[in-house]
Amino acid sequence: MGKQYDRLHPLIRDAARGGLPDWAAMSSQRVAHAERVARLMRKWARAHGLRKSDRARWSAAGFLHDALKGVSPPRLRKEFDLARDCPDPVLHGPACAVRLEEEGIDDKPFLRAVAHHTTGHPKLDLLGQSLYLADYLDPGRRSGRARRQRLRSRLPDEMDDVLPIVAAAKIGTLLEGRLQIPKVTVEFWTRIAQGR
Ligand SMILES: [Fe+2]
Ligand SMILES: [Fe+2]
Repeated sequence: MGKQYDRLHPLIRDAARGGLPDWAAMSSQRVAHAERVARLMRKWARAHGLRKSDRARWSAAGFLHDALKGVSPPRLRKEFDLARDCPDPVLHGPACAVRLEEEGIDDKPFLRAVAHHTTGHPKLDLLGQSLYLADYLDPGRRSGRARRQRLRSRLPDEMDDVLPIVAAAKIGTLLEGRLQIPKVTVEFWTRIAQGR
């Protein structure tokens, strides 16, 4: 167990202890959101009985997922090689994953979780699906507080039931706003709609 933990990338180990890389661009409110998401992730990882190194990965994913949220979309497009059809509001995820990979992190499920925390992705594993949920169910979000609380109380045990509920709510918001639905989101929905 100790060996696995020692092998984690230092940036992941630091993030699991609440340390951000110097390139992170987050407002104080964003950091508070990241801390709450990290706490939820650690709680669920513990409930799943995961070993110490995985608990650190889960917590770090929560803490780092919005690390580039404070950088404007035009700058993100300039600095990173990102898909042109990726809508502005979700760019910070893929950009952060590219940055983490440049730092030497080669943990694909971790990178995928960060990249697709807003959109979902058909290949998200348990860590990635949990981050998708934790980001949306952050107890600090003001809207629909009671509803979010009810959904959180069902996790992580009823993950397979809660995941389509959250995805439907998020996709519904896009539909109502007549916004673009990313292709990966459609593929994600196709995978989870009838259970895994
Ligand atoms: Fe985000
Ligand atoms: Fe977030």
